[in-house]
Amino acid sequence: MAEYATIQPKTDLVADWERLFKVFIRPEDDDCRATLIKYMERILFGLHDFLKKNVGITEARSLKDLSESFTDTLISENPEKKLADVITCLIKEIAPHAVNVASPYFVGHMTSAIPFFMVHLKTIVAALNQNVVKLETSKVVSIIEKQVIAKIHRMIYDKTEAFYREHVQNADTSLGAFVEGGTTAAYDRAQHVSDVVVALRDLLSSMGAGGRITHQEDILPIDLDASNKINIHHLKNTISRLKTHSPRTCILAIVGIAGATETGTVDPLEQIAEICSRHKIHFHVDAAWGGATLFSKKYRHLLSGIDFADSVTIDGHKQFYMPMSCGMLYFKDPLSMDAIAYHANYVNRWGSVDLGIKTLSGSREANSLVLDCALKIMGAKGYSLLIDHGIETAADFAEEIRSRDNFQLVTPPELNILTYRICPRNLQNRLMRVGADERRQINQKLNAVNRDLQRIQREAGSSFVSRTKFKVNNDPDDEIVVLRSVIMNPMTTISILREILDEQEEIFLKQLQHLI
Ligand SMILES: Cc1ncc(COP(=O)(O)O)c(C=O)c1O
Repeated sequence: MAEYATIQPKTDLVADWERLFKVFIRPEDDDCRATLIKYMERILFGLHDFLKKNVGITEARSLKDLSESFTDTLISENPEKKLADVITCLIKEIAPHAVNVASPYFVGHMTSAIPFFMVHLKTIVAALNQNVVKLETSKVVSIIEKQVIAKIHRMIYDKTEAFYREHVQNADTSLGAFVEGGTTAAYDRAQHVSDVVVALRDLLSSMGAGGRITHQEDILPIDLDASNKINIHHLKNTISRLKTHSPRTCILAIVGIAGATETGTVDPLEQIAEICSRHKIHFHVDAAWGGATLFSKKYRHLLSGIDFADSVTIDGHKQFYMPMSCGMLYFKDPLSMDAIAYHANYVNRWGSVDLGIKTLSGSREANSLVLDCALKIMGAKGYSLLIDHGIETAADFAEEIRSRDNFQLVTPPELNILTYRICPRNLQNRLMRVGADERRQINQKLNAVNRDLQRIQREAGSSFVSRTKFKVNNDPDDEIVVLRSVIMNPMTTISILREILDEQEEIFLKQLQHLI
């Protein structure tokens, strides 16, 4: 086999056994040790300050320009840099071109600031480097994982003390599993339900992904009603249509969402549960986003019915404020996960209690340790404060949008996500009076304005909201572009949100008003 090409860096660093031992066992020397500690401190406390001082959300360097700077395809033969230099480069040259998701002005996506202790916890997980696929590489960590899974299971299902005593460390049963993310949770779920899945709302991306390992055409989207929740009438009709016209088709699962990606709405879980129970269909709730609302005594009722679900997805990297990425899947029945049990001779042997037996993932980091410690550091009340802040700030934001003449609130927040658009009051009134053709024309112009507005604000780089598109008025040809805000950063206040609206209004009035 031909040797692959390498490059010789312009340094006198060499890769040899002496240096290798230092990399594995201890920093090279006292100076290097001091530098590493200094940078750890910088990462913990200074990285976001550094970003705040030097860039807003992200620097205005174009993607094209950036990609032209990263075209090296040769690995260097000897080391190019010491770790301390690599860290300096990451902080000063790479981080500014990443996205400062911790900024309180970054309110467009479900990714935000995390408590600084998460960095400590993640560092410990990396340092221990346990592999939870099997006990031989994790021991107590697998046991802690079962415990923390039982804690979240209890928050969802609230079964009896005796139930949890029986299952918390039962090697033959499983209350849930950690996976990479909400999408993988859908994969795991889809693996159980591979005939027909009735997905709720317009093909949620994660169910679409789950469908990649089933058959996309087996996932049936159900219409939404005017409040962006699953249209129960259409769901019932779909079930009876399938039963009448395709009697051999088995409807294996119905998916309800607790905190929809685009609008944050929660489907009528109790009603869906009742339909599932009547037709003996598996009921899955995607609470990847909204699951943590259960922490809040004040707002947990918004998820009522979730305890009827046969399975539930929750993402740790969303409202549990964990670093990327940590998906979880919970099952009401502790034997449900037997359906995907698999064994191999080198791992997950028959009769073993390895956690890897009952998940689709193979090797896995010990995210459960991060979650378990985070629950201890925050307490349910700490999480509840975050949830309440998000929901209440979103409600205030909605009021602020309603009070401004140039904006239209499109989907009011049920949890902490809302959508709105630039649509001056006179146009809002006109849209209510005109016929379908004129309405579509007006919406198209407004769409161009809102699309440009979102881009201009993003490129200016000091604040960020996302945008998405909805079909409206039951008209397949009438789609509206909306701005989408997700309020999860505890530092995001109503006055920051007012500033974001001010900036948007100014962009509209100075640059885009002529388009409508
Ligand atoms: C409701 C919901 N479910 C599932 C997912 C997918 O999760 P992940 O990105 O962790 O795979 C998302 C992502 O935003 C979501 O909002």
